[in-house]
Amino acid sequence: MSLLSKLKPNGKNGFGYGSTAEMVTAGISLVGKTILVTGCNSGLGFETMRVLALRGAHIIGTARTAAKAMAATRLVQGLTTPLACELADPQSVRACIASIKEKGIRLDAIIANAGIMALPKLETAFGYELQFFTNHVGHFILVTGLLDTLTDNARVVILSSSAHQRAPQQGIQFDNLDGSKGYEAWAFYGQSKIANLLFAKELSRRFAATGKTANACHPGVIKTNLGRNINPLITNTIGPIANALLFKTIPEGAATQCYAAVNPGAIGISGAYFADCNVAECRADANDSALAKKLWERTEEIVASLKI
Ligand SMILES: NC(=O)c1ccc[n+]([C@@H]2O[C@H](COP(=O)([O-])OP(=O)(O)OC[C@H]3O[C@@H](n4cnc5c(N)ncnc54)[C@H](OP(=O)(O)O)[C@@H]3O)[C@@H](O)[C@H]2O)c1
Repeated sequence: MSLLSKLKPNGKNGFGYGSTAEMVTAGISLVGKTILVTGCNSGLGFETMRVLALRGAHIIGTARTAAKAMAATRLVQGLTTPLACELADPQSVRACIASIKEKGIRLDAIIANAGIMALPKLETAFGYELQFFTNHVGHFILVTGLLDTLTDNARVVILSSSAHQRAPQQGIQFDNLDGSKGYEAWAFYGQSKIANLLFAKELSRRFAATGKTANACHPGVIKTNLGRNINPLITNTIGPIANALLFKTIPEGAATQCYAAVNPGAIGISGAYFADCNVAECRADANDSALAKKLWERTEEIVASLKI
């Protein structure tokens, strides 16, 4: 636990910066609930799977490969089903959706957790910048493909980040989704994370007449494999100090998504951005419903054009 975790006061609901996934789910029985967690083999996804399974949920744990998903699910106590879901490969995402439907699974929550950050050089998938494609388009295919498996009061939680603040001024550079007009690692990570937020907002709008909810969240800043592209000189020098003073631990980092996915305190909250287990403010244009709608429609076009 960092110094900040100890010092920062909790929010309105009694949880906050220093709350852990076990704390926000204490006393909650998830027996009979089924929850899909993407990126279950590492960092926040693994801790989320571990704690929600501990509370009795059946976890559909996805990873890039079946072997990774299987190895991760084997490490946790409780009911788990491992599945492959490589978000940068629509065929893999579609196979994951098909497998869930074949098994007749109804989902009480989806936690779109997997992600990549700050790729040093421009990389693409199907002609689109890879962070945008993996973090946003891959999850868009997965979540929209699973809408008819959701239970009446299902909750969709999309991992965003405070780094959505680093997105380009116009939010989404619709004329540069391939990065060919200029690429900057953090701006493109930021763009993918504001896309996650806008997706949650538009999904929430589409859920309006139902009992289902969709929210985005920022987990905090936590030392995980996500930082693999950060210069090791920085991580080895500033990293330990930041860890001791500022960062969250992995159990603290997994708390916000667990709160949004299962805590009764989040019942009826939709279209929100959570941070430190409470509703928080996001960048103004992440609340722009016209931008959210435009991104949804553009993503549908992208998905339709993939031809696989
Ligand atoms: N850690 C932080 O400080 C922080 C801050 C803000 C937001 N977040 C968000 O929190 C989420 C979880 O991150 P984390 O910190 O737990 O990072 P992590 O330990 O690196 O875990 C990321 C997970 O995503 C998976 N993944 C990456 N690319 C994928 C792909 N193409 N298809 C399927 N799965 C893929 C990884 O699989 P492999 O292990 O196979 O690569 C891994 O399971 C991310 O969405 C991230 O943006 C984290």
